[in-house]
Amino acid sequence: MNRINIIQKIIDKKMARTYLEIGTASGNSFFPIKARRKIAIDPNFTFSKISKIKWIFKNFCNIRAKYYRLSSDNYYRNVKLSHRLDVVFIDGLHTYQQSLKDVINSLSNLKENGVIVMHDCNPPHRASAYPADSYNHAASLNISGWTGEWCGDVWKTICYLRSFRKDLNVFVLNCDYGLGIITKRKPENNLNFTEEELNKLTYDDLEKNREELLNLKPIEFLDRFLNSL
Ligand SMILES: C[S@@+](CC[C@H](N)C(=O)[O-])C[C@H]1O[C@@H](n2cnc3c(N)ncnc32)[C@H](O)[C@@H]1O
Repeated sequence: MNRINIIQKIIDKKMARTYLEIGTASGNSFFPIKARRKIAIDPNFTFSKISKIKWIFKNFCNIRAKYYRLSSDNYYRNVKLSHRLDVVFIDGLHTYQQSLKDVINSLSNLKENGVIVMHDCNPPHRASAYPADSYNHAASLNISGWTGEWCGDVWKTICYLRSFRKDLNVFVLNCDYGLGIITKRKPENNLNFTEEELNKLTYDDLEKNREELLNLKPIEFLDRFLNSL
């Protein structure tokens, strides 16, 4: 089970109409998704015109898809949304600061019963969790154990939300580098970190206590979540 199957299951269960994706790159996750209104945001799309056209034939939902060559901050600052969002997939810049901003801005535009899915919340090893400024920055640093996978410190956004947002339910599905699931619901449980403590958390802390810090759930939990939608 990967991010694409899971996002599609959420869209289907909710009969969701509006899907927005932050960080689309080559369209691996965006093009296959079936939803009535699709919005892609990336300052650096990497798909060709031909692949965009091929994907219209493979998935007709792509005919009406909208593409914004913008950072997520610029998108939310400058583009007026015509509909509130049902499902948002956050997979842009993998830093704590930016992923948190992406969640906050997405929440402002999300329906009350909407769902945010955030990629890369459960880095598989220390090198993949290196808190760099960007993918290229991380790749240039000769980090010991580097495999080309980079989740950065997105995991801290999960810890922040679980500490400060008592109006959100947040958990992470243990698959595909960790899929954070955020809904506007009473939280199942919380953390109690201060901002200063969050800033000081390290990969060692995550490694010692992944289940608790991330509210990590096995993939079997997905059915329970879908049934609750
Ligand atoms: C990991 S890739 C996305 C992969 C894609 N979602 C998938 O599943 O195949 C991350 C993308 O985020 C984009 N990105 C980086 N900073 C961003 C920002 N501030 N706003 C939106 N996208 C950003 C990058 O250009 C890159 O294409």
